[in-house]
Amino acid sequence: MSAVIMDGKALAAKVYEGLKIQVETLAGKGVTPGLGVILVGNDPASEVYVRNKVRACERLGIASKVVRLSGDVCESEVIKNIEALNGDEGICSMLVQLPLPRSMDEDRVLSHIAFDKDADGITVQNAGALLNGIKGALPCTPRGIIELLKEYSVPMSGAHAVVVGRSNIVGKPVSMLLQRENCTVTMCHSKTRNLNDVIRSADILVAAIGKPGFITGDMIKPNAAVIDVGINRLESGKLMGDVDFYSASQVAGFITPVPGGVGPMTIAMLMKNTVEAASQ
Ligand code: GUN
Repeated sequence: MSAVIMDGKALAAKVYEGLKIQVETLAGKGVTPGLGVILVGNDPASEVYVRNKVRACERLGIASKVVRLSGDVCESEVIKNIEALNGDEGICSMLVQLPLPRSMDEDRVLSHIAFDKDADGITVQNAGALLNGIKGALPCTPRGIIELLKEYSVPMSGAHAVVVGRSNIVGKPVSMLLQRENCTVTMCHSKTRNLNDVIRSADILVAAIGKPGFITGDMIKPNAAVIDVGINRLESGKLMGDVDFYSASQVAGFITPVPGGVGPMTIAMLMKNTVEAASQ
């Protein structure tokens, strides 16, 4: 293996050290940050993510409130609970765990989150702020990816970054943040022609596709930095990213593992967004 492993777990631990001090300082002023989480239904992956988010809060002394709703509630019930958290003084930051049941209009539901409590940075106000380069809450996974690239001193200015996947929560915002770092960004999706050729031209490759092992070593430019956002559970129960780690790590210069790469950074950035919201 030639690639340097980008250790998200270790970097997240460093972020927690800094946040712990900030939480203690806030406690001295009588402020306890509080994170609200709405979980609709019982998707097993979402259950795991929410459990990990609550554990991270406990580790830092952040209060958390999880509102569990059954998968067959109507949209208005979810919105009612978002509005209750908007008005809850003990909650400075909140998120609705995604995906929502297919019967719901995700954009309509999320539009009810108060932008100043938007832990995921996905309300139109925060997405617009990101687009215009104005200060606002940043989506957690994209923010974590940039911190990882900086931690490992991956050159970004002038680099060709290729983002595969155009979701509102990862693909679109990470492409904006990479542009902010002066990357030349190409966004790819299911309709992209000559996808393999575009991927092979990437100095920085962000894979947010949701297909286990989709990107293999032969598709990667030698010495590229490969960021794997995928967390796919195989039938065997094993977790696998969107990148075939073994073959990719023979070619890449830097690579994030799954688990232990982007995942821990997403949660660390959620904690950072929550502490920042409490500080304001
Ligand atoms: N589901 C998978 N990742 C995320 C995330 O970062 N935020 C929310 N709200 N839901 C998710």
